[in-house]
Amino acid sequence: RHNSVSVMPGAPKVKYSKMIFGQFIEHFDNQVYGGLYDPESKFADEDGFRKDVIEALREIKTPIVRWPGGCFVSTYHWLDGVGKERTPVYDKTWQVEDPNTFGTDEYIKWCRKVGCEPYICTNAGTGTPEEMSDWVEYCNLTIGKYGRMRAANGHPEPYNVKYWSVGNENWGAHELGARTVQEWGPMVRESAKLMRSVTKDAKLFAAAKSDKKWTLPLLREAGPYLDYIAIHGYWDPLFHVNNPAPYLKCMMKTDAPEQDIQRTIGILDEAGFGGGKIKIAYDEWNLRNWHHPWHGDLRRGFDLEARRKNDMASTYTMADALFSACFLNACLRHSDVVDIACFAPVVNTRGPIFVHPDGIVRRTTFYVFKMYTNGLEDYMLPVALEAGRLTQGSQSTAVFDVVLTGNADGTRYVYAVVNKDPEKSHALTLDFKSLGVKEPRKLKGTVLSGTSADDYNDIGKERVVPEERSFEVRDAAVVLPPHSLTLLRLEK
Ligand code: AHR
Repeated sequence: RHNSVSVMPGAPKVKYSKMIFGQFIEHFDNQVYGGLYDPESKFADEDGFRKDVIEALREIKTPIVRWPGGCFVSTYHWLDGVGKERTPVYDKTWQVEDPNTFGTDEYIKWCRKVGCEPYICTNAGTGTPEEMSDWVEYCNLTIGKYGRMRAANGHPEPYNVKYWSVGNENWGAHELGARTVQEWGPMVRESAKLMRSVTKDAKLFAAAKSDKKWTLPLLREAGPYLDYIAIHGYWDPLFHVNNPAPYLKCMMKTDAPEQDIQRTIGILDEAGFGGGKIKIAYDEWNLRNWHHPWHGDLRRGFDLEARRKNDMASTYTMADALFSACFLNACLRHSDVVDIACFAPVVNTRGPIFVHPDGIVRRTTFYVFKMYTNGLEDYMLPVALEAGRLTQGSQSTAVFDVVLTGNADGTRYVYAVVNKDPEKSHALTLDFKSLGVKEPRKLKGTVLSGTSADDYNDIGKERVVPEERSFEVRDAAVVLPPHSLTLLRLEK
């Protein structure tokens, strides 16, 4: 079948939110301690932060980082993590000791060094609406008990944290912090009212789901107080047990984010908050999560060893990179509603950066962020795609996933093209005519593909890195390599 992409006539170009390139960090495994924060490391700066991690996050222009959980936050009390005396506490969620040396002040300082917006997720498990708003006071006021407390802790200037979420997955992904549907809406409404009484222009989120049974009642009760619903997407929790991940199986998941977004938009419309009145924040997303019986549960305890296996650099291949590009493409296609996304997590576990004593590994997914944040133009132009199918058993997906971005005055365009085929190159006919661009003989592009679909980066082995290439254009078509993400640049 002939593969081609055409610009949709008359469709407006939309300036998309760069916040979709955000990240998430949780007090979980070695993401914070021994990850981004490690005073013992030879790479630590004067505050104990890993400089190499900060540099890498600046390289991918990280716009926002959500913290401190995740499920961790459902039993976290922020007051334990501020001030001179830090008492280690038992982290009931992950059943380990948290030293509390990395708390709110350290997080804000780290965000400033990274150059990103802080986004704080509050405790709606064992916490109260008042504890949440006290936290907003601590960050944003100069007066009152908590504003003064921050100043006394050495930070007289308010932090002006704008993004605040009520809870994490309180719909019951984890036993701690779970609420009933009936409890959730009123809990969110009360929390939002208190938080807004401190910071009027705060952007407020609530833990939601692309499921009507949970989210419609939430929106009925608390919709008028919210700016975002926070939803999570992990599309194949079990892949981590395979190493490498079964590539084709991952590719069969690449349409799922699009479907999930459409379902969620339908729920917002039905509740009367469509058209961007309330936006979507995918504040945790990744192809995989580690949830699996082998990794434990609250009753049986956690199998830390098994969990560590999820933290090998070699587990993250081109499958992860291409799924991630397809996820970001789906967000871009719905950029009027999808405003924020946080890859989960940013350091270690299944994140784009893997930290070791002698440096970091930029995993395959890191380079997807690098290409998108440095290589795309600022506006989205809707396109229609005609493409052949890639099949596995009874499942199939289009062989290509494509988005088109352009600059404000229409003089530059960048196509982002995923060729999901594990073995074959495919030709794709591009639309030059609708853009008013003369068909060139060659196009410049940046390609991420590695040497095979299962290729990965590891300590001392950075095999999957973006490469600059020149593509011949024949009859408006270019040939894209197998298992690749390519940015193609067009100029008038
Ligand atoms: O990353 C581990 C957990 O996955 C997070 O704490 C939770 O929010 C998600 O289910």
